[in-house]
Amino acid sequence: MTSREARQMIARIGREPPFRLLTRLIVKQFLSNPAVRARWGVDPYPAYLYGMLEGALLAKRQGISGITAVEFGVASGGGLLAMEQYARRIEQFTGIVIKVVGFDTGSGLPAFIGDYRDHPDHWQTGAYPLADDLRGRIDPASTRLVIGDVRQTVPAFLKESDFLPLGFVSFDLDLYSSTRDALQIFDSRERKMLRQTPIYFDDIDFISNHRWAGELLAIEEFNRSCDFVKIDHWYNLKSDKPFPEAYYWEKLMVAHDLEAISRSGSNVGAGAVSL
Ligand SMILES: C[S@@+](CC[C@H](N)C(=O)[O-])C[C@H]1O[C@@H](n2cnc3c(N)ncnc32)[C@H](O)[C@@H]1O
Repeated sequence: MTSREARQMIARIGREPPFRLLTRLIVKQFLSNPAVRARWGVDPYPAYLYGMLEGALLAKRQGISGITAVEFGVASGGGLLAMEQYARRIEQFTGIVIKVVGFDTGSGLPAFIGDYRDHPDHWQTGAYPLADDLRGRIDPASTRLVIGDVRQTVPAFLKESDFLPLGFVSFDLDLYSSTRDALQIFDSRERKMLRQTPIYFDDIDFISNHRWAGELLAIEEFNRSCDFVKIDHWYNLKSDKPFPEAYYWEKLMVAHDLEAISRSGSNVGAGAVSL
């Protein structure tokens, strides 16, 4: 057996139950490589780390030197601060610059919560306000807060010509109507994104979720009305993972820019990178 084969065998055994629990602990405590940590899901926002890293690797393959990672719905800032920290680690690992942008009303869920599509049985106006001290905790050199209703702030953001292409976007706005408005970030001639942009939807796995309401309806409507970008599952994502049953694999999807793919004219950088 060559040393490479031996290493592969040890790695395979490390992924087998019950060893995988021990391996996971070792990865969490001792390894800093973001690709390994993302694979094993050892950080507090594992889908963010996985999606952002994949976005950075795809950017590299597409000859793009920097990306924007977006969180729609910031609230206490746990997700945004995690994004900021992951951005630094991924920058060091890949050489790709990552700017982080968080969108939020600042005052929690908006006054308008509509019919069954917004799940008024679930959500309340004013819930999840922005943490008072968040502005002081983010690094203004890399992270930005955009305050206001996404219905207005997303079109305004798209008009800024100097933002880096979207390389990861998380949707955690809870409401159908807010998610529909936030999806304008892709449904626009002014969009800037990777040919394949990893995205995450937080609210699609409760018993109350279905395709006629919430984020799932916003995705359905988006795909029906937008001709040049389509959102679909991130296929075969969990099959080779040590914890394929983890809750977040199903919530990671991909926005495909059909026009950019047609224009690309070559296969270079087309495939997703396997972490
Ligand atoms: C569940 S919280 C986000 C939690 C956060 N992602 C985290 O992991 O810590 C939902 C947030 O979405 C924001 N939100 C909902 N609809 C919005 C809209 N139309 N425009 C801007 N922000 C909105 C609310 O202000 C609220 O802070």
